[in-house]
Amino acid sequence: MTALTAEDFAQFGDAVIVLINQANDQNTLAQLRSNLQGKKSPTTALSKQMGKLDGEGKKTYGAYLHELRTRIATALDERGDILAKQALNAKLLAEQIDITLPPRHRPTGGLHPITHTTQRMKQFFVQAGFSVATGPEVESDYYNFEALNIPSHHPARAMHDTFYFDAHYLLRTHTSGVQIRTMEKSEPPLRIICPGRVYRCDSDQTHSPMFHQMEGLMISKSSNFAELKGVIHEFLNAFFGKEMTVRFRPSFFPFTEPSAEVDILSDNGKWLEVLGCGMVHPQVLRNCGIDPDEYTGFAFGLGIERFAMLYYGIDDLRVFFQNDVRFLGQFA
Ligand code: FA5
Ligand code: MG
Repeated sequence: MTALTAEDFAQFGDAVIVLINQANDQNTLAQLRSNLQGKKSPTTALSKQMGKLDGEGKKTYGAYLHELRTRIATALDERGDILAKQALNAKLLAEQIDITLPPRHRPTGGLHPITHTTQRMKQFFVQAGFSVATGPEVESDYYNFEALNIPSHHPARAMHDTFYFDAHYLLRTHTSGVQIRTMEKSEPPLRIICPGRVYRCDSDQTHSPMFHQMEGLMISKSSNFAELKGVIHEFLNAFFGKEMTVRFRPSFFPFTEPSAEVDILSDNGKWLEVLGCGMVHPQVLRNCGIDPDEYTGFAFGLGIERFAMLYYGIDDLRVFFQNDVRFLGQFA
């Protein structure tokens, strides 16, 4: 057999490359690739010839064949890149996105009305210089009652339908325990609020077994009842954004003296109690190591659901906790 020359390989390579560069789409190129590199390709056939050559002949022939394969592979890859780019450009042109189209509607979540109400309340008090304190929901008898001047035999305990764990621990019935926790660990003057969940065995249109209160406490050398009333009025005006019909009603809490409750006239013509308040009882100050001859203070505890009821015009607070998305969606 007369071995093929370098010239032969070069000519064959040139012809194949022309063919490759004529491929006008990716499918044609893929077909060409399998024809040129597969088991039945000319290069495979050429490599079978090698067996018939002697040592030196094999070497040169092998080198020519290798070069030819490399040329073909490179040409296929280069053409492949060009065709891929062309295909992408064609696709981008065909699939232009109209950015002026309105987006498809996707349902989004929103804040729960109680969360929203709490945030608005916090915003007012933080701007007025109050800081936000927290306390545990599983509370000890001492902080929930004892330190607030409500000893175990006190009839005021009956006002709170308490969920007890045992003789010492309970679910807090109000946020007032945080007053004690705050006064114990900080020096007056003090200005705090404490929003949080509280629990009572109670359920009707205006009572829920779990509800939210926000405690407020201000201790200074000059606080008085007029200041308490002023703060409450300022807050009510800011919260509702309009003048509400409000009454301060004398009341009783063992931890404040004098004490009052605040009612607001709702749209349905009924008074709704929204908060309890008063001047911090001297005994409570003493329980926390504060000298009542030097400091006075006032406190209040408001029912967040009650405010939300009045603000949104809802006459049964239990809807806040039924989690009906048709209801909740209206506040998103
Ligand atoms: C108290 O809990 C006192 N700790 C408030 C207080 C704080 C007085 C500081 C003085 C100084 P009362 O039990 O009235 O008070 O509850 C306060 C408010 O919580 C009520 O005015 C009402 O708005 C709300 N509230 C009471 N019980 C419920 C309930 N079951 N569901 C929803 N809101 C309630
Ligand atoms: Mg009350």
